[in-house]
Amino acid sequence: MKLLVIGGGGREHALAWKLAQSSRVIKVFVAPGNAGTALEHGLENLPLTAIPDLVEFAKKENIALTVVGPEAPLAEGVADAFHAADLKIFAPTRQAAQLEISKDFSKAFMRRHNIPTAAHATFSDASEAHQYLDRKEAPIVIKADGLAAGKGVIVAMTSTEAHAAVDAMLVNKNMGEAGIKIVIEDFLQGEEVSFIVMVDGHQVLPLATSQDYKRLRDGDQGPNTGGMGAFSPTPFISPERHGKIMREIIHPAVNGMLHEGARYTGFLYAGLMITPDDEIKVLEFNCRLGDPETQTIMMRLKSDLFTLIEQALNGSLDNAETEWDRRVALGVVIAAHGYPETPRKNDIIQGLSNLTTHQLASDEFHVFHSGTTLGGENGDEVLTAGGRVLCVTTLGDNIKMAQRNAYQIAEQIYFDGRQMRHDIGYRGMTYTGNRAGSL
Ligand code: AMP
Ligand code: GLY
Repeated sequence: MKLLVIGGGGREHALAWKLAQSSRVIKVFVAPGNAGTALEHGLENLPLTAIPDLVEFAKKENIALTVVGPEAPLAEGVADAFHAADLKIFAPTRQAAQLEISKDFSKAFMRRHNIPTAAHATFSDASEAHQYLDRKEAPIVIKADGLAAGKGVIVAMTSTEAHAAVDAMLVNKNMGEAGIKIVIEDFLQGEEVSFIVMVDGHQVLPLATSQDYKRLRDGDQGPNTGGMGAFSPTPFISPERHGKIMREIIHPAVNGMLHEGARYTGFLYAGLMITPDDEIKVLEFNCRLGDPETQTIMMRLKSDLFTLIEQALNGSLDNAETEWDRRVALGVVIAAHGYPETPRKNDIIQGLSNLTTHQLASDEFHVFHSGTTLGGENGDEVLTAGGRVLCVTTLGDNIKMAQRNAYQIAEQIYFDGRQMRHDIGYRGMTYTGNRAGSL
């Protein structure tokens, strides 16, 4: 069977790589893909991004199943277009994706269904927002309502910063349409974890837990990014917390969407904060997998992903079972010069084809590509083409060993202006609870 993955980042490389391992899959097209998916056995890039073109291609090529990586196509109604053409796609409809597309919808939805989250208020009028801020204390969080490619959240440490963020969004309209409405939310402290599940409309299959590193620099310093690294599983999600998250957050969300007439099918990602007094609150819902969490989750997944998605589309996730590698997977992102503000393109990436992997077996590491393209004189050089460039992902018996393996490989890959953190995994190593999770 032939499959299609929509997107061109590291998450999509990992998804397509995993899908291609199924014995029933002969080829996975990746639209538009990157240099990594171009070079990967069993994958083929497709230079298409417009939804009508993707629908046309899926019909013509008899694509058995399409999987969507990023949020932008969801907001454009890719699932609705595929359904209208009677094509199989694993992704929420535009209506169901409101959970990610509109922070205001998402917050009001959580309130309606008693899903724990930080207190908030929504504004489209700047002076009302300023008055509200005058009654609150910093730190406080300002969020653009709409999709803003990861740039729509300001965690304001001072009241001055918070007022400036309100003016930037509501007065100067620096987020465009996405910032016409804003959500102001109480600041939450604690341990941030990623909890991702598959949903078939009714039933839920949790995937392995993970944690990502959002700040650019070591020690969680510097600007927010899409994610500079991740590891799976996180010890912060004990079996007890896992049960609580399913009961108090995931099931109410899936049932809530169903009862509101927006049946949810697809991957669902809850970004959670575990607070110091052991409350678990939702920071955000994403209607997709995380990047780079996916790279670590796919490294650990032993089951056939194609079969799991088929079960989700048939509404039989209750019969699905997942088998996970018991080891830790850890991914280190290598980003371009200037990321996240102004990533530079066209730097030549060296070292990819002659990595010394020491004792690692070929299935214990993988270099997933994000912003890369093939170019140079003969078209066979790998060049940077985006903010996050690569994610070196490895397995290890514990976080420390997975970390050592990942950096051994990452250090061999070089391009001008290369940026990476050197401490991915450290939060997992600081875990002091007495019952670590292994989920
Ligand atoms: P979001 O896109 O809503 O997840 O926000 C992006 C990042 O901002 C999150 O991953 C958190 O690190 C941070 N963040 C969002 N909301 C809050 C909050 N209420 N308190 C503290 N940090 C937050
Ligand atoms: N790594 C966070 C995200 O994908 O939203």
